Amino acid sequence: MSNNVSIKQLNDDLERLEKEAANNITLAGDKEDLERLRIQFLGKKGRLSKILGLMGALNSSERPIIGQRANVLKNQLQELIADRVSNLKEEALTELIASEKLDVTAPSSGRPFGHRHPLISTTEQIVDIFCGLGYEVHEGPEIENDFYNFEALNIPENHPARDMQDTFYLDNDLLLRTHTSPVQIRCLEKTPPPVRIVAPGRVYRRDAVDATHSPVFHQVEVLAIDKGLDFSHLRGTVMAFLKTFFGDLPVRFRASYFPFTEPSVEVDVQWKGKWLEVMGCGMVDPAVLEGLGIDPDIWTGFAAGLGVERFCMVRHGIDDIRRFYTSDLRFLEQF
Ligand code: DAH
Repeated sequence: MSNNVSIKQLNDDLERLEKEAANNITLAGDKEDLERLRIQFLGKKGRLSKILGLMGALNSSERPIIGQRANVLKNQLQELIADRVSNLKEEALTELIASEKLDVTAPSSGRPFGHRHPLISTTEQIVDIFCGLGYEVHEGPEIENDFYNFEALNIPENHPARDMQDTFYLDNDLLLRTHTSPVQIRCLEKTPPPVRIVAPGRVYRRDAVDATHSPVFHQVEVLAIDKGLDFSHLRGTVMAFLKTFFGDLPVRFRASYFPFTEPSVEVDVQWKGKWLEVMGCGMVDPAVLEGLGIDPDIWTGFAAGLGVERFCMVRHGIDDIRRFYTSDLRFLEQF
């Protein structure tokens, strides 16, 4: 032991250690820092141990003074470290609470909502326009029988028109309706004229799937029966409807044939330089009215069948009917 070591020197050392340690402990940023400081100041090979190791050079009256002081300092520093540990915990908790605070007045981040399928909204737009003209909505069953789907519409057995509508039969008599025209018959059976109805619905045909055909598709049927209705009323109604739906697209009427109308026409609109058929229509054939016990000399009228897919495709520039049925959200979310 060196004889140069004096009590004053050790006291000074302890004082320096105390200041330095207290300073460092107060500034420590986390538990690991504190552990490092504990080892540095209070560990077996730490600064305090080193000072105590020098005590042997003191005389027996001086030793206990330094020993006691070193003990007090050790306890003080241990307490300081423990305090700092609990402070750090508290600070972390306060920070956590602040960061997790619920702001009940914050605006909602919103939920994704579903919306109408483009075929449904197109159907609704078509129906709305006719409702605006005074028509009432009627609906009929998708499972029909031969009478309503064919017979009452002037399409007897073996009539070639049955081939135009390749049919899904459920048994000899029951079938999936191939068009919405049977709703005309069901309505007129129940309601004596005058009538004005619009009948939206799903229809079925045994068509192979391609860009313009689907075995399930949608139509809107229109029927008006009154005294004195003639072709000019049909034309005026169709033109008013098309103008409301499409705006000013060019329209043409083409002579055609349907067993339940006479005369019959198909209506095309010009879109992207091409004529596209969007509906069939005509004056209700007197044979249909007679079959229902309605006198065709008193009552006349017109009917139309609109292809919903066609209207939707022209309106939105869709080139493939299959897009409507594949439930691809990237497609559906655009509408
Ligand atoms: N039912 C016909 C079809 O599906 C469309 C049709 C044409 C309906 C003329 C009518 C009409 O009401 O008058 O092909």
